[in-house]
Amino acid sequence: MTFARIAGTGGYLPERVVTNKDLEEMVDTTDDWIRDRSGIKRRHIAAKGEKTSDLAVVAAERAIEAAGMDVSEVDLIIVATSTPDKVFPSTACIVQRRLGLRKIPAFDVNAACSGFIYALDVANRFISTGGARNALVIGSETMSRILDWTDRSTCVLFGDGAGAVLLRASNEAGIISTHIHSDGEFEELLHVPAGISSGYDTVQQEAAFIHMKGNEVFRKAVSTLGNIARETLSGNNIKQEDLAWLVPHQANLRIITAAAKKLELSMDQVIVTVDEHANTSSASIPLALDVAIRDGRIKRGELLLFEAFGAGFTWGSALVRY
Ligand code: ACO
Repeated sequence: MTFARIAGTGGYLPERVVTNKDLEEMVDTTDDWIRDRSGIKRRHIAAKGEKTSDLAVVAAERAIEAAGMDVSEVDLIIVATSTPDKVFPSTACIVQRRLGLRKIPAFDVNAACSGFIYALDVANRFISTGGARNALVIGSETMSRILDWTDRSTCVLFGDGAGAVLLRASNEAGIISTHIHSDGEFEELLHVPAGISSGYDTVQQEAAFIHMKGNEVFRKAVSTLGNIARETLSGNNIKQEDLAWLVPHQANLRIITAAAKKLELSMDQVIVTVDEHANTSSASIPLALDVAIRDGRIKRGELLLFEAFGAGFTWGSALVRY
């Protein structure tokens, strides 16, 4: 049997840091409110003209370098993003060109904040069925471009960044299981109303920004993440004490804390970057993973649980032996 193993990870955060104090100058908010309600202290924001593909390319190059591979060995690129450079071609094709690769399949996946888990699921299926041997799975977002910077209820919560994982075919697992779900019933609780077939050329400015019923999203996220964690553990016949680390989507420290509590995991076993990165949507899990691998917390052989929840609603998890 062929498995997908994480051979290397990479991350990239734009240079510009915007603190909560900076936001106090822009909207009616306070550093205390943002920290109390979300755990966020600062976020990185892409420079003018810096695009999702620019972030993705740097993260990808770092993942390839960490894997000790040559870029020419990559035979699949999947980019998870809700903030692509263009309507088409896909951001994955733009990244492919920038990496100097030709002919290999490259495509985007949009599952909002669960996008990385969805992309990982797809890449895992490619590798386990022999369709690819070295897959680049990237989460990259410029969330700042879909924020209304006058709306205090959303603009304080998001940031820009990219994370990448290079998956390599192996006899050892690797990605043990992935679990993905969605429920379109909740479309209006978290969405950017503008879109190509909804009158893109006549769009009202505010339709191009994130609209969110924060409270309702919060409640649904907490209960759903508890369920997906249970589904993953029981599906693999393992207990929470077998887990070394939880690497959750980084939306809100209170959601992460509640998820850890449901799993009876100490916060010492949870990778948290939301304080420094804010919510970078599909980039948040690979970014958090990369941070914790590079600082030595996550070690080879350890069992990891990734979990995410996002617009759609979409949600998912992956059980991974690093
Ligand atoms: N600064 C100060 N006050 C604010 C701010 C702000 N930035 N934003 C809202 N408020 C006010 C509200 O207007 C409200 O005032 P009111 O009581 O006078 O009406 C008050 O604070 C409380 O607002 P709530 O929305 O009830 O605050 P809550 O405790 O629910 O926290 C938050 C809001 C942080 C958005 C929370 O609901 C949350 O995190 N929800 C989940 C959001 C999320 O994670 N989304 C992404 C998940 S999926 C994905 O990643 C795409």
